[in-house]
Amino acid sequence: MNSYIPSSPAFNLKKIVVACIIILCSGNVFGQTDTTHKIDRKWWKEAVVYQIYPRSFKDNNGDGIGDLKGIISKLDYIKSLGVDVVWLNPIYSSPNDDNGYDVSDYRNIMSDFGTIEDFNVMLKGLHYRGIKLVMDLVVNHSSDEHEWFKQSRSSRTNPYREYYHWLNAENGKPPYRYSLFDINHDAWRYDSLTNAYYLHYFSRKQPDLNWENPKVRQEVFNIMKFWADKGIDGFRMDAFQYAAKDTTFPAFPKGFEKNFNQYYGMVTGLHGYLQQINKEVLSKYNVMSVAEGAGNTYEDAHNMVDADRHELNMAYAFDGVSIAKSSGYNLLEFKRVFSKWDSVFADKGWLSIFLANHDQARLVSRYGNDSPEFREVSSKMLSTFLMTMRGTPYYYNGDELGMSNPGFTKIEDYRDVSLLNEYHHQLNIGGSIPDFLKEAKFSSRDNSRTPFQWDSSVNAGFTTGTPWIKVNDNYKTINVAAEEKDKNSCLNYFRKLTKLRKENLVLVYGKYTLLDKDNPKVYAYTRELDGKKLLIVLNFTSTVAEVKTGYDLSTAKLVLSNYEGSISDKSKLLPYQAVVYQIQ
Ligand code: GLC
Ligand code: CA
Repeated sequence: MNSYIPSSPAFNLKKIVVACIIILCSGNVFGQTDTTHKIDRKWWKEAVVYQIYPRSFKDNNGDGIGDLKGIISKLDYIKSLGVDVVWLNPIYSSPNDDNGYDVSDYRNIMSDFGTIEDFNVMLKGLHYRGIKLVMDLVVNHSSDEHEWFKQSRSSRTNPYREYYHWLNAENGKPPYRYSLFDINHDAWRYDSLTNAYYLHYFSRKQPDLNWENPKVRQEVFNIMKFWADKGIDGFRMDAFQYAAKDTTFPAFPKGFEKNFNQYYGMVTGLHGYLQQINKEVLSKYNVMSVAEGAGNTYEDAHNMVDADRHELNMAYAFDGVSIAKSSGYNLLEFKRVFSKWDSVFADKGWLSIFLANHDQARLVSRYGNDSPEFREVSSKMLSTFLMTMRGTPYYYNGDELGMSNPGFTKIEDYRDVSLLNEYHHQLNIGGSIPDFLKEAKFSSRDNSRTPFQWDSSVNAGFTTGTPWIKVNDNYKTINVAAEEKDKNSCLNYFRKLTKLRKENLVLVYGKYTLLDKDNPKVYAYTRELDGKKLLIVLNFTSTVAEVKTGYDLSTAKLVLSNYEGSISDKSKLLPYQAVVYQIQ
């Protein structure tokens, strides 16, 4: 099945970040080149980003939906993690066809989430704690309930007509491209009001904006300035690679579905649009920018974030998260992908490091082992990986607790529009519903969207009402309150990792070198900067594994391990063991 997120049965995105106050020397000013290290230090490179899915984080008013007041009530918790930046999924006004990724008013807050006053309090509270805020900017498309679209569809001559992509029906049916949220539906939707088709790459309630129209671009610059003037610290450009499309709308060759990215986006003008955004907005504020997706080629990705080109700060490439399948994944491929991406940005540009987000199933369930025996240790191993690679780590809320997939077995438990579309399609074609549900249980986006587990009280302390999506049954043991009390919990291990990263500039900027490349069980690498070398060894399997690093580990200093106690045989790793050594 061709999917936007390949492992998802329905949401189909194929390749679809205060900085650590590094107290090395007080004259070390962020944003300037550090001549001692010959590294281009930036706050957004040194930050650990914590992604909050607002709908599922904390409900304050008992309606079952997370909200801004809920986030405000948990700011001290967020601070305690040692993270520097919060990336918040969209909180703008939205009819919620795609949980806020369908914006109906870019300058207002979704009523489910609160008010602009709540937003101001939240931002102030974050800044007071030295944490920056990055907002999602969803401008490949708007909601069909946005005033622009309402105007646009009202008549062929409306001034807003050109804000979207319309093709008149008398010229025939537009050449087929499928909706990324529904492989079986044309991304062109017929609208009888004006006898014309509009384009929606995502759901039919998410019409694509026409970026070739300078007025649309100006609207977006103004929206960005509105939020930057409010004091936010960055933008995550949602699905931005699709903003630039071939508006001659050619017919695609047979089988294009397998490689749709090549046809759907990055086609014309994307780098120009980004340069314009940079000139008009980004360059005028101390904000960071990251595009979802990294284009079709390494060159595209590199060009987007090459500082000399004045586009964006960092890429967010999907190759890493695309590896895990319900059938498992191959560590050699995993190592190859991450090593390749590191090499592309070794000299110029910057990368995000992540293995999970709101569009992916849970980290430990996909890349680790969520069985009772190995959940904690494998979750810690994966966190060690994320926090010791070069690039800015993006860490998804709940993963610090080792939250796992909820194991939904009934379609009634699911909420995701893309999954529900696919379900109906399977019904129509007489597909196997048990197979569909089995795959969904592993890879559905809803796996990562279940309520954040705060304590062992009803609904995990997330809400006093009925949660919009079911709480994972394991909340009684896996929750913040329980993990606070356990010094060896996933939560406290994560805090050690953020501290380690802050205290070791080598983990941010240091050269990455892969070791024991062909070892199918162990991922081993060094990070090196100014004579300081850290060695990271990670066993990705549930059995004991050997590692040949080429270093004399007898003199290596143990910096951190996810197992308690000393290590007797340093050439062997226990199941899912992760160790960080300093090489003397
Ligand atoms: C991005 C978002 C995803 C959303 C889609 C459409 O991929 O991460 O959640 O559904 O864009 O806006
Ligand atoms: Ca609420």
